[in-house]
Amino acid sequence: MERKRIVSGIRPTGDLHVGHYLGVLRNWVELQKEYQCFYFAADWHALTTEYRDPSVITRSTRDMVMTWLSVGLDPERSVLFRQSDIKSHAELFLLLSMITPISWLERNPTYKEMKEELKEKDLSTLGFLGYPVLQAADIVMYHGDRVPIGEDQLPHLELTREIVRRFNFIYGENTLREPREILTEAARVLGIDGRKMSKSYGNAIFIYETGESLKGKVMQMLTDVKRVRRKDPGEPGDCNLYPLHEYFTDEGARGEIQAGCRSAGLGCVDCKKILLENLMKEFSPIWEKIDYYRAHASLVDDVLALGGKRAAEESEATMERVRKVMKLIG
Ligand code: TRP
Repeated sequence: MERKRIVSGIRPTGDLHVGHYLGVLRNWVELQKEYQCFYFAADWHALTTEYRDPSVITRSTRDMVMTWLSVGLDPERSVLFRQSDIKSHAELFLLLSMITPISWLERNPTYKEMKEELKEKDLSTLGFLGYPVLQAADIVMYHGDRVPIGEDQLPHLELTREIVRRFNFIYGENTLREPREILTEAARVLGIDGRKMSKSYGNAIFIYETGESLKGKVMQMLTDVKRVRRKDPGEPGDCNLYPLHEYFTDEGARGEIQAGCRSAGLGCVDCKKILLENLMKEFSPIWEKIDYYRAHASLVDDVLALGGKRAAEESEATMERVRKVMKLIG
């Protein structure tokens, strides 16, 4: 039997950080085992907010693909591609926009929030309003069964389902497949200043760091602010750094760290050193691979060419059917 299909994308708007690694990429790697996955760099989606300075998109796309390959996404097993290489995403976006009521888009909570949050970017554009329609096109193009997304993306997926139902109702049953979410929990890790880890706060630990930069960031991290002196006891539950141990330190060692923190037997500097060591263990093999791809950049072109070819075949088949049911071709 054919494997069920996963479709998901990331907007290439900057470097991927540890939050992406834990919350998205490790998941994507796992899903490859069970599903036929279509993963893409959503560069057109990035353009909806970065249209004034699109150079960041080109750069981030290549870096992102290098990171994907280095954390274990397999270009043979999964279809890895760049959205803008498959022009029919734009055609399907156009066709879906014919049947999508504007009111569905305007009431989308993510739309309202982002427009408010990113006031300086002037997002009163048709492209930004249509963001979820393009996302719907991405998903139905490959007949995605499941879409791994965070909670903030649920309204978009609901909209995809509504568009699919309307399309199938108007043009005939089952032309497009209705996808369901795989809700992925966001990694509960904080940035070095104790706020949510985010590139725009300038507090992120990126997937690609150097030994030096990683050390600098870990040592700089806020811990339990009540622990002013070395001999003050602390509480891992109130520590900004401790959640990282939950992901990168094994259980036995975590027990010791908790006890040591609460008894003041273990100082914050030593606790950070343990974390640093474990982060190095996890990420240095990934850095080596990223360095390798940086030195052999044509490999990334090859991967995108291969993925683009497979995506193009799939998308052409879908477009044939869509054009047919919409009476654009006989
Ligand atoms: N909107 C998604 C995000 O911001 C990115 C995205 C674009 C996407 N197209 C998609 C995710 C299709 C899943 C499926 O994270």
